[in-house]
Amino acid sequence: MSEFAIETRGLVKRFGQVCALDNVNIAVRKGEFVAIMGASGSGKTTLMNILTCLDTHTEGQVFLDGQEASLLDEDGRRNFRAEKIGLLFQQFHLIPYLTALQNVMLAQHYHSVTEEDAAKKVLEDVGLGHRMDHLPSQLSGGEQQRVCIARALVNDCPILFADEPTGNLDEANEKIVLDIFQKLHANKHTIIMVTHNPDLGRYTDRVIRLQHGKVIEEVQN
Ligand SMILES: Nc1ncnc2c1ncn2[C@@H]1O[C@H](COP(=O)(O)OP(=O)(O)O)[C@@H](O)[C@H]1O
Ligand SMILES: [Mg+2]
Repeated sequence: MSEFAIETRGLVKRFGQVCALDNVNIAVRKGEFVAIMGASGSGKTTLMNILTCLDTHTEGQVFLDGQEASLLDEDGRRNFRAEKIGLLFQQFHLIPYLTALQNVMLAQHYHSVTEEDAAKKVLEDVGLGHRMDHLPSQLSGGEQQRVCIARALVNDCPILFADEPTGNLDEANEKIVLDIFQKLHANKHTIIMVTHNPDLGRYTDRVIRLQHGKVIEEVQN
């Protein structure tokens, strides 16, 4: 067991001639709430995709809960994703013809368990106990993102990755989402949040700033 949820050493990612990540060395302790910030094109999404096994890196080492990612086979990567991480995106990616509850239960299904009570509980935890039978089209953007949080949390994953989770939300809903993150943080979840909004950094323990694929600054809050 590692003290770090995530660690990279000399991480490089190239897309052809483009060096999207250039010698990135970061470590996120278990239970830490970290913001990854930087202008558009600085490499934030590329980094998230590698840390969540959605993409592979070109050089260097990536450790996921102490295990080197490049040594994991397809099953190992799938298990890491299924057991350890929840994902949140700017776009909600909810299934339009399923209710809020069914969308959350679909995530359980991929985990080979369906417990309606557990799905209801996470929806209640994000303040949507009264919206469980609504379709995504019947929910506001903020409510849809809260369904996504419930979906990410239903399988008890300890690490939450969020790529611009409030990018499509107004300020009031942004605050609701950040409040939920702080509650999760208090309950020992590790949260890695990508954002280009400087105001969101103050909610976190630490801000890691990327520029042109390099870490240019780390600020402890
Ligand atoms: N699949 C890809 N193919 C080629 N270039 C890519 C690809 N994905 C990202 N890039 C390039 O990598 C750099 C970092 O992109 P990205 O990680 O999406 O930045 P951010 O999320 O910070 O806006 C950009 O120059 C982008 O054009
Ligand atoms: Mg991005």
